[in-house]
Amino acid sequence: MDADLLRQYLEFYRDLGIQTLYRQSGSDAFVGQPDPDARFKPEVREVLPDMAPAGDTLTVIQNDIGDCKRCRLHEGRNKIVFGVGSERAPLVFVGEGPGADEDAQGIPFVGRAGQLLTQMIEGTAKKEGIVLTREDVYICNVVKCRPPGNRTPEPDEMETCGQFLYRQLMTVRPKAICALGGTAARAVTGHKEGVTKLRGKWLQWRDIPVMVTFHPSYLLRPYNQEAKREAWEDLKKVLHFVYD
Ligand code: URA
Repeated sequence: MDADLLRQYLEFYRDLGIQTLYRQSGSDAFVGQPDPDARFKPEVREVLPDMAPAGDTLTVIQNDIGDCKRCRLHEGRNKIVFGVGSERAPLVFVGEGPGADEDAQGIPFVGRAGQLLTQMIEGTAKKEGIVLTREDVYICNVVKCRPPGNRTPEPDEMETCGQFLYRQLMTVRPKAICALGGTAARAVTGHKEGVTKLRGKWLQWRDIPVMVTFHPSYLLRPYNQEAKREAWEDLKKVLHFVYD
């Protein structure tokens, strides 16, 4: 962690009234996950303490984000895309970051990929006999501002924004999390392997089961039909786990 970022964290925690910070063994997840490969990397780095302010709510978190200028992504954004859905949702979907439509509307997953995600959630639920609409789940992203040209968020941007994803997940405390694509998978679980390796099996964020699956943008490409079938399988597993 570079000195600037560390200073930002220290100021952030000071503002929350937290006086004592502890060193913990290494983590590459951006939302407070112990590194699953830690036994192969015995070195100790400074990372955030595993805590969120007592009495946190989604509104408080959104207010804390405010008119955020903590990283360079604020420069090109129109709207901060915080998240949508119920604070008590038993299932959270985490994407990578807003695209152009989301940046314009301030709502995650409303563009083409978003429409596919909604269709996948609602269509799979219906097929499986589960009464569920998009409004019943919580949807958010690793970074809340659109990366220019839809590029992948940089590690420092993910780390800066990760504190808010961490607090969102701590606040909603869902029964399961579905990480959409490699960036979300890495940010939430700390695993560095690609989606093809990680998908379809249960991983964890703290004590909450995480299912990694393909990002809907990837599924929109016509030559990824097999991935589409696999994503449907992953989603079926998640929905039955959460709603049966
Ligand atoms: N892709 C994402 O990862 N998130 C969105 O909100 C939209 C597209």
